[in-house]
Amino acid sequence: MDHLMWRVRVDFDSRTLHAEATISFNKHGNVVLDTRGLIVSRVMVGTSTDISFEMGDTDPILGTPLIFEVPANCVVKIVYTTSPDAMALQWIEPAQTAGKKLPYLYSQGEPIHARSMVPCHDSPGVRFIFTAHVEVPSSLRAIMAATFVERSVSGTLATEVWETDHPIPAYLLALAVGNLESRELSPRSRVWSEPEMVEKAAWEFAGVEQMMQAAERLFGKYQWGRFDILVMPPSFPYGGMENPGLTFVTPLTVAGDRSSVYVIVHELAHAWTGNLVTNRTWCDFWLNEGWTTWAEMRLMEALYGADIAGLQALRGRQELERSMKDFLQKGKSKLTRLFTPLAGEDPDNAFSQIPYTKGYLFLRVIEEAVGREEFDAFVKKYIAAFAFKSIGTMDFLEFLGRELPDAGERVPYAEWVYGEGLLEAVPVITSKIVDSIHTLVAMHTIPTHKDAAQWNPVAWLYYLAAILRDANACTLCSALEESFHLSTEGNARKRWAWYMLAIESEAEYDHTNLVMFLKSIGNMYYLKTLFKELFTRRASREWAISVFEYVCHLYHPITIKVIGAQKNLPLID
Ligand code: BES
Ligand code: ZN
Repeated sequence: MDHLMWRVRVDFDSRTLHAEATISFNKHGNVVLDTRGLIVSRVMVGTSTDISFEMGDTDPILGTPLIFEVPANCVVKIVYTTSPDAMALQWIEPAQTAGKKLPYLYSQGEPIHARSMVPCHDSPGVRFIFTAHVEVPSSLRAIMAATFVERSVSGTLATEVWETDHPIPAYLLALAVGNLESRELSPRSRVWSEPEMVEKAAWEFAGVEQMMQAAERLFGKYQWGRFDILVMPPSFPYGGMENPGLTFVTPLTVAGDRSSVYVIVHELAHAWTGNLVTNRTWCDFWLNEGWTTWAEMRLMEALYGADIAGLQALRGRQELERSMKDFLQKGKSKLTRLFTPLAGEDPDNAFSQIPYTKGYLFLRVIEEAVGREEFDAFVKKYIAAFAFKSIGTMDFLEFLGRELPDAGERVPYAEWVYGEGLLEAVPVITSKIVDSIHTLVAMHTIPTHKDAAQWNPVAWLYYLAAILRDANACTLCSALEESFHLSTEGNARKRWAWYMLAIESEAEYDHTNLVMFLKSIGNMYYLKTLFKELFTRRASREWAISVFEYVCHLYHPITIKVIGAQKNLPLID
């Protein structure tokens, strides 16, 4: 496929999209499109000649192929309805929005959920351009990761037209419908959210133009026109999602102190590493996330200095160790490989810190082998060479071999890319903040209020994860609660980290308060890690399963699936 014309009617009552996808093909013969849960009623060539089609066998991970024959260079129109439990879509009741009056809908395509919204070649190796006509109640806006064309209102309905300037893979197709308002941040950036949050969000992200300029100095011109940000409802399952031209972020990023801007830095970096140069398959996911983590750290350093960037990177290493341990526990050590074998795996369940931090460390090792100046020049060349292309791990290694021929003698590429676990020779990352935290940890003690006044949330997370290894972690955890009241802390990341420590160190905690916390956030990583610790301990398993059943209606379908898959993990005690 190379072009999609998408006409969608958003029906909140039945929680479905009634849609037509008109797709042009530059080939003829047998076509197999990805779908999941779609009810296809007609397939036509041109605009009106029905042709026969077949729905193939359903695969539990990949969905149901839609199969038909096309004559040469033709346009095919597919009429279909989505399922009310489409994986890509979350339908939100008014009561769960900030404004409480109007419903909300949003999509999450990555990695393989676009097929539950639209029949398509749902592989990151295929790119297409699109035009979309989205019909919604006129009290709502429909916004997309694309260029706005027009909005027209007729009676109680509005139609919004959006189109792309550049080809995108299906996983970057993104739509949000709700009571949305925006504020300008710079001539090429604005923030969207429900009206209740928009001023606060505009303050939080005021520095975005400065970030864009720093990124352009490092990686070349920003190619997506606008860089807008949409602050999502609480159930959004990720910290951020790099939908081109319209990054989606969790409302937790609007922390009130600009302490979560690294999420914006990360998603902005994807404009180059991921959206320009795209992984060809999800086995090559590290090319998206490892490169972006590298770019995030480089930008953090340029914007906020080496100590803050080092802290961020070392914090990533802590979570990398958690991911490694988790996969070993589950007997899935093959998922610790950078080039990840995904046959038979649901990519949502295989998701981990490995492509991020192991990928980052690999690139750092190469950078150190050749020196920063040479590596920076290489990065610019790499991005320019593969812009708007999808590439695999081998393409990267070949390019590396050509451009930096000496590095291969010093860095064991094959072991990094195909090996399991982490190599001994990883780069030394330093940060004065982390040094001071280690001093405290070595003294088996909690910070004073004076120490803690210097800490950003990432420093807190680092400290809280580090003292878990202390023989007295349980006592320290309770002492921290007494001094800092972290279990009711306003910053959700700190609250999460304290609860992780409490559960893992078997300290006492207030269960009602934990349930309140589990109801207030939607970020899958936080929820998944908390539920995993609760599910795998005898004392909390039954209770946690019933809590999950009670709160899961608030979560995104992907989050429900991923947490649900952990219910039967073996007990660790
Ligand atoms: N593209 C990812 C989010 C994602 C990954 C969605 C895999 C679906 C499948 C995004 O860029 C990301 O990495 N988000 C991070 C935030 C970041 C600051 C590390 C997240 O959500 O934690
Ligand atoms: Zn990312």
